[in-house]
Amino acid sequence: MTSYDYQEALKNAAKTMVRVKNPRRLLKMIVRFIVKEVGLSHASILMFDQLKSRYIFVDSKGSHRIPINLIKLDQSNPLIQWFSDPAPKAKLNKDFLACTELTSWLQNSEMTHHNAPLKARLLQLKDVLETLKATVCVPGFYKDELLGVLILGNKLKGGQFSLEEISFFQTLANDASMAIKTAEYQEDLLSKNLQLEKQKRELEIRLQEIAELRKKEQETYYQIVMSLAQEVNAKDPYTAGHLKGVERLGIMTAQEMGYDLSGRKKDVLVASLHLHDVGKIGVPDHILLKPASLTEEEWKIMRQHPSKGAKILEPLSGFKEVANVVLHHHENYDGTGYPDGLRGEKIPLEARIVSVVDSFHAIVSKRCYSKGQPIDAAFKELERCAGTQFDPHVVEAFIRAYKRTLNGKHHKEESAHRLAS
Ligand SMILES: [Fe+2]
Repeated sequence: MTSYDYQEALKNAAKTMVRVKNPRRLLKMIVRFIVKEVGLSHASILMFDQLKSRYIFVDSKGSHRIPINLIKLDQSNPLIQWFSDPAPKAKLNKDFLACTELTSWLQNSEMTHHNAPLKARLLQLKDVLETLKATVCVPGFYKDELLGVLILGNKLKGGQFSLEEISFFQTLANDASMAIKTAEYQEDLLSKNLQLEKQKRELEIRLQEIAELRKKEQETYYQIVMSLAQEVNAKDPYTAGHLKGVERLGIMTAQEMGYDLSGRKKDVLVASLHLHDVGKIGVPDHILLKPASLTEEEWKIMRQHPSKGAKILEPLSGFKEVANVVLHHHENYDGTGYPDGLRGEKIPLEARIVSVVDSFHAIVSKRCYSKGQPIDAAFKELERCAGTQFDPHVVEAFIRAYKRTLNGKHHKEESAHRLAS
């Protein structure tokens, strides 16, 4: 090969190395390339195997090739030591090892006469080279790490390797080391990424399963709470089925007050209107359905229903605001209500609306002990208690909206009852 050929060969080899993603394939290509292009009895590559922590032959080509599966060199092997141990580097060339050079070192009595360990080392090295039928060995480094050794046999045409040829092999060995390290790094990165991706997917699936489970649980619980509310409602034969009426009146009042009824806010109001008395499920029937006035002791139990209701709603994660409304639907505007004696704007607006609508409904509903009051009487009662029991703005908005709705109807009485029921 001329010097031009080597340059060209290196360029081609470098291009190929960039393309080849599989390091083993790359090494096989290098060995084949050297044997064929340079014309050698054999060429082999020793590579460090991370898993086995040894140097193994990944390929060997040529007429005197090495049985690659039989020979493995560990890190204490003289050849590996020679390249990886930095100690005597200053004195002897370690960029490559040529058999001829080794022989001349051994014959140099000045060098070995007073240095028995070095002589022993060189002799061991010679043994290894003879076993491998190596003429020249070229190490491949990545930073200071010995990744592999290129082992070359004799030139078929005879003669020794020129420095230019050895320099070509060195460049090839170092480029290959770099390519292998990059490929390994990419492979490692890819497998880590794949693993991360897999873990991420598994986590997403698990989270989704949990979310679905929680949603299902919440739905089931919501159904239970709704049926409890209906049960409470059904216990009172006079108000049974009136929840829809309460909902209509509540929404109407809120709209009149300019309350934002888009999305979630409406849901909170509607749920509060339906569920405000759900805690009555915990009040014994003889108190709940008593056809006469309650005793002080009975009132005490009855007054627990807002907090019992809020407690029932506690496990529903999306019902925090509703639970708060339920808890405070018996607060009075002047602070005389229960359970916390909240005053004015401190009482949630939805609770102030529930309070007015619920009371109106109670006044106009027929009871076994009292006939339902006419609508006008109910308005008067609400107005009388505006500012004490009720928020005056809510009362005002409620009556205004109610009357406007009535004015839009022809049959006043019939409409009034439809609205209230
Ligand atoms: Fe209540």
